[in-house]
Amino acid sequence: MKFNSVKTLSVLTSLATLINADCQLSGDGNYYCSSTDAIVYSNVGISGSYNDVTSMDETSCACSSQPIQFSGNLAPLDEELSVHFRGPLNLKQFGVYYPNQGTALKKRDGDMANENCAETVSKKKHRHKRDVAVEYVEVTATVYVNEAGETVTATAPATNTATGASTVAANNNNNNEVSAAQTSTQNNNINNNANNDGTSQKRDATTSLTAASPSSSLTSSNSYSNGDWTRMTYFTPGSATNCTFMNHQGGTAGSGTWSGCFGNSISYAASNGVDGAGSAFALDDVTLKSGQEYMIFSGTECSGPNGDCGYYREGIPAYHGFGGSSKIFVFEFEMPTDNDGSGYNQDMPAIWLLNAKIPRTLQYGNAACSCWETGCGEMDLFEILSAGSDKLISHVHDGQGGGTQDYFVRPVGNTLKAAVIFNGDDKSIHIVQVNDDFSGSLSQATVNSWLNTPGSAAALP
Ligand SMILES: *[C@@H]1O[C@H](CO)[C@@H](O)[C@H](O)[C@H]1NC(C)=O
Repeated sequence: MKFNSVKTLSVLTSLATLINADCQLSGDGNYYCSSTDAIVYSNVGISGSYNDVTSMDETSCACSSQPIQFSGNLAPLDEELSVHFRGPLNLKQFGVYYPNQGTALKKRDGDMANENCAETVSKKKHRHKRDVAVEYVEVTATVYVNEAGETVTATAPATNTATGASTVAANNNNNNEVSAAQTSTQNNNINNNANNDGTSQKRDATTSLTAASPSSSLTSSNSYSNGDWTRMTYFTPGSATNCTFMNHQGGTAGSGTWSGCFGNSISYAASNGVDGAGSAFALDDVTLKSGQEYMIFSGTECSGPNGDCGYYREGIPAYHGFGGSSKIFVFEFEMPTDNDGSGYNQDMPAIWLLNAKIPRTLQYGNAACSCWETGCGEMDLFEILSAGSDKLISHVHDGQGGGTQDYFVRPVGNTLKAAVIFNGDDKSIHIVQVNDDFSGSLSQATVNSWLNTPGSAAALP
């Protein structure tokens, strides 16, 4: 993929926006504007393509892929998403709702069972201790001219904060010394702010910002006239329904795999969120430390290699993400201060969404081994950009790229409850701080009140 300097223009435009909005350049190198209760992305969804991984070769360490087309409201974020968490963080509630219309449709194929995460019992039995070596990569939008001479928006690796811990000091059952493929090759492009100490999570705050006005008028869509939304997935500490907790401990504790080429795959997470496990566990009431990560998939297993989830890395526990252009994620979490970590991503908690194909192939490592670099989708919901910050920023990273420098206040000694509403009908995504209970169903009135919460606009191009 070839990028040209049109990007510079968009940076300048965005800068002007920031200056007009009277935003502040913080000491950590990031711009922040106002605190907010809601962020509204509008005009979400493009037509395009990304490179869908089709094989991961353990001999050559190479991956192959083929372009896959996408289009439609919210695309590609209407595809199946996995939900990712980084400490310091304590998750108190998580849920996913679908409109009843969709629920009714889904019931028809309910005989393909395998919803194996129902009421998973918490037990502690795996005690492997190791450093999690990860790198956090992200893209922002840029504009390039394609082979046909058309100007199109595409993704570019912009900032890539890689960990120095590219080598995983694994204490895994295979006795493998992991040293593999954890070094990103993605950071060879423009605006490379990568560093290896994790202290500068500086993103190019201005690159793809298209709007930062704290006032926006919203009109909610009412097309789910048949009413309610049903909670299909739900977690509270010790209890998980239709969700699977995973982390990156493949090959260490009875699930997933490790290889010299691709390192540790995803694996089931133990109930402490940190260790691997041989089967699915519900997370306990645990606070992840800085840099530690887990992710949530649905409880529905993929049908098999190259089946209904497409290609995935051989040997992993493979589960469906949360698909569709109408869905609501709910969260309640605390992000306490962590002054005690080892340095990597120190005190920078985050919650974000990825196209679920990314972790099922390779989340951290050779860029050719996931669809991430070519824009299959990432949405940062709540992300701290510098150690100790109390400002949670949101951003979309796909072919559109955008966000706002308005922020949610980090819940340090309390919890934050929020809903993320994928409103495919009007191409919007709302991230809203809420007070309501996350009960088994949601009335459209409640959802409308969330959609109507005035917030900060984060329009996409
Ligand atoms: C579990 O969640 C997935 C993804 O949202 C959904 O497709 C599936 O129908 C759910 N299963 C049950 C039993 O609710």
